[in-house]
Amino acid sequence: MDPARPGAGGADPAATSQRNGGSEVAVVERSPSTRPVAVHIEGRRGGPPLSTVLRRDGWRVQPDLVAFGLLAFVVYSTWAAFRDTSFYTGAYGRDYLSPFYSPCLTMHCTTAGYVWGGWSWWRISPALLILIFPLAFRTTCYYYRKSYYRAFWLSPPACAVADAGSTRPGGARSGYTGETRFPLILQNVHRYTWYVAVIFAGILTWDAIAAFRFPNGVGMALGSLIFVVNAVLLGLYTFGCHACRHLCGGAAKSLSKSPLRYKLWKWVTPLNERHMLFAWLSLVWVAFTDFYVFLVSTGHLHDPRFF
Ligand code: FES
Repeated sequence: MDPARPGAGGADPAATSQRNGGSEVAVVERSPSTRPVAVHIEGRRGGPPLSTVLRRDGWRVQPDLVAFGLLAFVVYSTWAAFRDTSFYTGAYGRDYLSPFYSPCLTMHCTTAGYVWGGWSWWRISPALLILIFPLAFRTTCYYYRKSYYRAFWLSPPACAVADAGSTRPGGARSGYTGETRFPLILQNVHRYTWYVAVIFAGILTWDAIAAFRFPNGVGMALGSLIFVVNAVLLGLYTFGCHACRHLCGGAAKSLSKSPLRYKLWKWVTPLNERHMLFAWLSLVWVAFTDFYVFLVSTGHLHDPRFF
Protein backbone atom coordinates (compact mmCIF):
# COMPACT_ATOMS: atom_id res chain seq x y z
CA MET A 1 0.00 0.00 0.00
CA ASP A 2 1.30 3.42 -0.91
CA PRO A 3 1.81 5.39 2.34
CA ALA A 4 1.60 8.67 0.44
CA ARG A 5 -2.00 8.02 -0.56
CA PRO A 6 -4.91 9.40 1.46
CA GLY A 7 -6.17 7.02 4.09
CA ALA A 8 -3.09 4.81 3.80
CA GLY A 9 -1.61 3.18 6.82
CA GLY A 10 -2.54 -0.44 6.33
CA ALA A 11 -4.85 -0.67 9.33
CA ASP A 12 -8.23 -0.75 7.62
CA PRO A 13 -8.79 -1.65 3.93
CA ALA A 14 -12.38 -0.40 4.08
CA ALA A 15 -13.67 3.00 2.99
CA THR A 16 -12.45 6.05 4.94
CA SER A 17 -13.16 9.72 4.41
CA GLN A 18 -11.22 12.97 4.37
CA ARG A 19 -11.70 16.67 3.80
CA ASN A 20 -11.00 17.89 0.29
CA GLY A 21 -11.46 21.61 -0.36
CA GLY A 22 -14.05 21.82 2.39
CA SER A 23 -16.13 18.82 1.20
CA GLU A 24 -16.16 15.26 2.48
CA VAL A 25 -14.99 12.64 -0.03
CA ALA A 26 -14.95 8.86 0.29
CA VAL A 27 -11.65 7.08 -0.19
CA VAL A 28 -11.77 3.36 -0.96
CA GLU A 29 -8.65 1.42 -0.17
CA ARG A 30 -7.64 -1.65 -2.17
CA SER A 31 -5.96 -4.77 -0.96
CA PRO A 32 -2.32 -5.21 -2.13
CA SER A 33 -3.38 -7.99 -4.54
CA THR A 34 -5.64 -5.63 -6.50
CA ARG A 35 -3.13 -2.83 -6.99
CA PRO A 36 -3.83 -0.94 -10.24
CA VAL A 37 -1.43 -1.58 -13.09
CA ALA A 38 -0.32 1.29 -15.26
CA VAL A 39 -1.29 1.13 -18.91
CA HIS A 40 1.29 2.45 -21.36
CA ILE A 41 -0.28 3.67 -24.56
CA GLU A 42 1.29 1.86 -27.52
CA GLY A 43 3.35 -0.20 -25.11
CA ARG A 44 3.01 -3.85 -24.20
CA ARG A 45 -0.55 -4.73 -23.38
CA GLY A 46 -1.03 -6.18 -19.97
CA GLY A 47 -2.64 -6.05 -16.59
CA PRO A 48 -3.24 -8.13 -13.52
CA PRO A 49 -4.13 -11.81 -13.91
CA LEU A 50 -7.84 -12.63 -14.01
CA SER A 51 -7.73 -13.87 -10.42
CA THR A 52 -7.04 -10.33 -9.21
CA VAL A 53 -9.51 -8.43 -11.39
CA LEU A 54 -10.85 -5.42 -9.55
CA ARG A 55 -14.41 -5.83 -10.80
CA ARG A 56 -16.69 -7.77 -8.51
CA ASP A 57 -19.85 -7.58 -10.66
CA GLY A 58 -21.04 -10.15 -13.19
CA TRP A 59 -18.76 -8.94 -15.98
CA ARG A 60 -18.52 -12.44 -17.50
CA VAL A 61 -22.24 -12.58 -18.31
CA GLN A 62 -22.22 -10.18 -21.24
CA PRO A 63 -19.30 -11.70 -23.19
CA ASP A 64 -20.79 -15.17 -22.61
CA LEU A 65 -24.19 -14.11 -23.94
CA VAL A 66 -22.59 -12.39 -26.92
CA ALA A 67 -20.51 -15.48 -27.71
CA PHE A 68 -23.63 -17.64 -27.58
CA GLY A 69 -25.66 -15.24 -29.76
CA LEU A 70 -22.99 -14.82 -32.41
CA LEU A 71 -22.24 -18.54 -32.54
CA ALA A 72 -25.93 -19.33 -32.92
CA PHE A 73 -26.18 -16.88 -35.82
CA VAL A 74 -23.08 -18.30 -37.50
CA VAL A 75 -24.48 -21.84 -37.28
CA TYR A 76 -27.90 -20.82 -38.59
CA SER A 77 -26.62 -18.58 -41.38
CA THR A 78 -24.17 -21.27 -42.56
CA TRP A 79 -27.03 -23.76 -42.83
CA ALA A 80 -29.23 -21.18 -44.58
CA ALA A 81 -26.52 -20.11 -47.02
CA PHE A 82 -25.68 -23.65 -48.11
CA ARG A 83 -29.31 -24.78 -48.18
CA ASP A 84 -29.61 -23.56 -51.78
CA THR A 85 -33.31 -24.32 -51.85
CA SER A 86 -36.58 -23.16 -50.27
CA PHE A 87 -35.66 -19.48 -50.33
CA TYR A 88 -38.49 -18.26 -52.54
CA THR A 89 -42.23 -18.78 -52.03
CA GLY A 90 -43.48 -18.16 -55.58
CA ALA A 91 -45.06 -21.62 -55.77
CA TYR A 92 -47.32 -20.73 -52.83
CA GLY A 93 -48.63 -17.44 -54.24
CA ARG A 94 -46.32 -15.23 -52.23
CA ASP A 95 -43.55 -12.96 -53.47
CA TYR A 96 -41.18 -13.59 -50.59
CA LEU A 97 -37.47 -13.94 -51.25
CA SER A 98 -35.21 -14.77 -48.30
CA PRO A 99 -32.95 -11.82 -47.38
CA PHE A 100 -30.01 -14.24 -47.43
CA TYR A 101 -30.61 -14.74 -51.18
CA SER A 102 -31.58 -11.20 -52.17
CA PRO A 103 -30.97 -9.92 -54.78
CA CYS A 104 -31.25 -13.17 -56.68
CA LEU A 105 -28.42 -13.12 -59.19
CA THR A 106 -28.88 -16.58 -60.62
CA MET A 107 -31.68 -18.48 -62.33
CA HIS A 108 -32.54 -20.27 -59.08
CA CYS A 109 -35.35 -17.79 -58.30
CA THR A 110 -38.03 -19.18 -60.53
CA THR A 111 -40.02 -15.98 -60.91
CA ALA A 112 -38.58 -13.73 -63.62
CA GLY A 113 -39.29 -10.51 -61.71
CA TYR A 114 -36.89 -11.56 -59.01
CA VAL A 115 -33.95 -12.61 -61.15
CA TRP A 116 -31.52 -9.68 -61.24
CA GLY A 117 -28.57 -11.34 -62.87
CA GLY A 118 -29.61 -14.64 -64.41
CA TRP A 119 -26.13 -16.08 -64.08
CA SER A 120 -26.75 -19.63 -65.26
CA TRP A 121 -23.04 -20.48 -64.94
CA TRP A 122 -23.20 -20.16 -61.14
CA ARG A 123 -23.73 -23.71 -59.86
CA ILE A 124 -23.61 -23.40 -56.07
CA SER A 125 -25.80 -21.54 -53.61
CA PRO A 126 -26.39 -17.91 -54.73
CA ALA A 127 -26.44 -16.87 -51.07
CA LEU A 128 -22.66 -17.22 -51.10
CA LEU A 129 -22.50 -14.41 -53.65
CA ILE A 130 -24.76 -12.19 -51.60
CA LEU A 131 -23.66 -12.70 -48.04
CA ILE A 132 -20.09 -11.51 -48.59
CA PHE A 133 -21.29 -7.91 -48.56
CA PRO A 134 -23.52 -7.80 -45.46
CA LEU A 135 -20.95 -9.94 -43.66
CA ALA A 136 -18.15 -7.49 -44.51
CA PHE A 137 -20.32 -4.71 -43.11
CA ARG A 138 -21.28 -6.57 -39.94
CA THR A 139 -17.91 -8.07 -39.09
CA THR A 140 -16.17 -4.69 -39.33
CA CYS A 141 -18.92 -2.83 -37.45
CA TYR A 142 -17.51 -1.06 -34.40
CA TYR A 143 -20.06 -2.67 -32.12
CA TYR A 144 -19.48 -6.21 -33.38
CA ARG A 145 -15.72 -5.70 -33.23
CA LYS A 146 -15.99 -4.86 -29.57
CA SER A 147 -18.29 -7.84 -29.09
CA TYR A 148 -16.18 -10.55 -30.63
CA TYR A 149 -12.89 -9.16 -29.39
CA ARG A 150 -14.35 -9.51 -25.92
CA ALA A 151 -16.36 -12.69 -26.31
CA PHE A 152 -13.98 -14.85 -28.34
CA TRP A 153 -10.51 -13.35 -28.05
CA LEU A 154 -10.85 -12.09 -24.47
CA SER A 155 -8.98 -9.08 -25.70
CA PRO A 156 -9.93 -7.67 -23.29
CA PRO A 157 -12.93 -9.61 -21.94
CA ALA A 158 -14.49 -6.51 -20.36
CA CYS A 159 -13.69 -3.01 -19.15
CA ALA A 160 -10.98 -3.02 -16.48
CA VAL A 161 -10.21 -6.70 -17.09
CA ALA A 162 -6.81 -7.66 -18.42
CA ASP A 163 -6.29 -8.92 -21.93
CA ALA A 164 -6.05 -12.69 -21.57
CA GLY A 165 -2.76 -14.15 -22.70
CA SER A 166 -0.67 -11.01 -22.41
CA THR A 167 -0.72 -10.43 -18.69
CA ARG A 168 2.99 -10.86 -18.37
CA PRO A 169 6.05 -10.24 -20.54
CA GLY A 170 6.31 -12.93 -23.19
CA GLY A 171 2.61 -13.79 -22.81
CA ALA A 172 0.73 -15.36 -25.69
CA ARG A 173 -0.25 -12.03 -27.19
CA SER A 174 2.65 -9.87 -26.12
CA GLY A 175 3.16 -8.91 -29.77
CA TYR A 176 -0.47 -8.04 -30.33
CA THR A 177 -0.68 -4.76 -32.20
CA GLY A 178 -4.44 -4.31 -32.26
CA GLU A 179 -5.78 -2.68 -35.39
CA THR A 180 -2.57 -0.89 -36.28
CA ARG A 181 -1.15 -3.61 -38.58
CA PHE A 182 -2.27 -6.36 -40.95
CA PRO A 183 -4.63 -8.16 -40.72
CA LEU A 184 -6.78 -6.17 -38.30
CA ILE A 185 -5.97 -2.89 -40.00
CA LEU A 186 -8.40 -4.13 -42.67
CA GLN A 187 -11.19 -3.33 -40.22
CA ASN A 188 -10.86 0.22 -41.52
CA VAL A 189 -12.75 -0.74 -44.67
CA HIS A 190 -15.90 -0.44 -42.60
CA ARG A 191 -16.63 3.12 -43.75
CA TYR A 192 -16.64 1.88 -47.37
CA THR A 193 -18.77 -1.18 -46.69
CA TRP A 194 -21.39 1.23 -45.36
CA TYR A 195 -22.13 2.42 -48.90
CA VAL A 196 -22.75 -1.17 -49.99
CA ALA A 197 -24.95 -1.69 -46.95
CA VAL A 198 -27.09 1.26 -48.01
CA ILE A 199 -27.63 -0.43 -51.39
CA PHE A 200 -28.67 -3.63 -49.62
CA ALA A 201 -31.01 -1.68 -47.35
CA GLY A 202 -32.65 -0.36 -50.53
CA ILE A 203 -32.92 -3.86 -52.03
CA LEU A 204 -34.50 -5.27 -48.89
CA THR A 205 -36.92 -2.34 -48.81
CA TRP A 206 -37.92 -3.31 -52.36
CA ASP A 207 -38.42 -6.90 -51.15
CA ALA A 208 -40.67 -5.60 -48.38
CA ILE A 209 -42.79 -3.74 -50.94
CA ALA A 210 -42.88 -6.82 -53.17
CA ALA A 211 -44.16 -8.83 -50.21
CA PHE A 212 -47.50 -7.02 -50.70
CA ARG A 213 -47.85 -8.39 -54.25
CA PHE A 214 -50.17 -11.33 -54.73
CA PRO A 215 -51.24 -13.17 -57.88
CA ASN A 216 -54.59 -11.35 -57.81
CA GLY A 217 -53.22 -7.91 -56.88
CA VAL A 218 -52.14 -6.05 -53.78
CA GLY A 219 -52.75 -7.59 -50.37
CA MET A 220 -51.21 -8.17 -47.00
CA ALA A 221 -50.22 -11.34 -45.18
CA LEU A 222 -48.22 -12.09 -42.07
CA GLY A 223 -45.13 -12.51 -44.21
CA SER A 224 -45.59 -8.99 -45.64
CA LEU A 225 -45.31 -7.56 -42.13
CA ILE A 226 -42.30 -9.70 -41.32
CA PHE A 227 -40.55 -8.32 -44.40
CA VAL A 228 -41.43 -4.73 -43.44
CA VAL A 229 -40.00 -5.18 -39.95
CA ASN A 230 -36.87 -6.70 -41.49
CA ALA A 231 -36.36 -3.70 -43.79
CA VAL A 232 -37.01 -1.20 -40.99
CA LEU A 233 -34.61 -2.85 -38.53
CA LEU A 234 -31.93 -3.11 -41.18
CA GLY A 235 -32.40 0.57 -42.02
CA LEU A 236 -32.19 1.59 -38.34
CA TYR A 237 -29.01 -0.44 -37.96
CA THR A 238 -27.43 0.88 -41.17
CA PHE A 239 -28.22 4.55 -40.57
CA GLY A 240 -27.16 4.32 -36.93
CA CYS A 241 -23.67 3.32 -38.08
CA HIS A 242 -20.82 5.40 -36.65
CA ALA A 243 -19.47 5.94 -40.16
CA CYS A 244 -22.86 7.30 -41.23
CA ARG A 245 -22.98 9.69 -38.27
CA HIS A 246 -19.49 10.87 -39.09
CA LEU A 247 -20.49 11.35 -42.71
CA CYS A 248 -23.40 13.54 -41.59
CA GLY A 249 -21.76 15.68 -38.93
CA GLY A 250 -18.10 14.77 -38.70
CA ALA A 251 -15.23 16.98 -39.79
CA ALA A 252 -17.50 20.03 -39.93
CA LYS A 253 -15.85 22.96 -38.20
CA SER A 254 -19.17 24.56 -37.41
CA LEU A 255 -22.38 22.58 -37.73
CA SER A 256 -24.45 25.77 -37.32
CA LYS A 257 -23.15 26.83 -40.74
CA SER A 258 -24.30 23.54 -42.31
CA PRO A 259 -27.99 23.28 -41.38
CA LEU A 260 -28.61 20.25 -43.60
CA ARG A 261 -25.72 18.31 -42.13
CA TYR A 262 -26.81 19.34 -38.66
CA LYS A 263 -30.31 18.01 -39.32
CA LEU A 264 -28.98 14.72 -40.64
CA TRP A 265 -26.62 14.42 -37.70
CA LYS A 266 -29.48 15.09 -35.27
CA TRP A 267 -31.55 12.44 -37.04
CA VAL A 268 -28.98 9.66 -36.97
CA THR A 269 -27.58 10.37 -33.50
CA PRO A 270 -30.46 8.69 -31.58
CA LEU A 271 -30.06 5.66 -33.87
CA ASN A 272 -26.34 5.67 -33.18
CA GLU A 273 -26.99 5.74 -29.43
CA ARG A 274 -29.04 2.54 -29.83
CA HIS A 275 -26.68 0.93 -32.31
CA MET A 276 -26.10 -2.17 -30.19
CA LEU A 277 -29.85 -2.72 -29.85
CA PHE A 278 -30.47 -2.43 -33.59
CA ALA A 279 -27.43 -4.58 -34.34
CA TRP A 280 -28.96 -7.45 -32.39
CA LEU A 281 -32.57 -6.93 -33.42
CA SER A 282 -31.70 -6.76 -37.11
CA LEU A 283 -29.42 -9.80 -36.83
CA VAL A 284 -32.07 -11.95 -35.15
CA TRP A 285 -34.86 -10.72 -37.43
CA VAL A 286 -33.02 -11.34 -40.67
CA ALA A 287 -32.49 -14.97 -39.59
CA PHE A 288 -36.13 -15.21 -38.53
CA THR A 289 -37.28 -13.82 -41.91
CA ASP A 290 -35.21 -16.42 -43.74
CA PHE A 291 -36.64 -19.17 -41.57
CA TYR A 292 -40.18 -17.95 -42.19
CA VAL A 293 -39.59 -18.08 -45.94
CA PHE A 294 -38.16 -21.57 -45.54
CA LEU A 295 -41.24 -22.75 -43.64
CA VAL A 296 -43.68 -21.23 -46.14
CA SER A 297 -41.80 -22.41 -49.21
CA THR A 298 -41.57 -25.98 -47.90
CA GLY A 299 -45.29 -26.05 -47.07
CA HIS A 300 -44.67 -26.46 -43.33
CA LEU A 301 -46.46 -23.20 -42.56
CA HIS A 302 -49.52 -21.57 -44.07
CA ASP A 303 -48.90 -17.82 -44.39
CA PRO A 304 -52.15 -16.19 -43.18
CA ARG A 305 -53.44 -13.47 -45.51
CA PHE A 306 -55.33 -10.50 -43.97
CA PHE A 307 -56.78 -9.00 -47.16
FE1 FES B 1 -21.83 -0.65 -36.64
FE2 FES B 1 -21.06 0.90 -38.69
S1 FES B 1 -20.42 0.98 -36.66
S2 FES B 1 -22.54 -0.65 -38.66
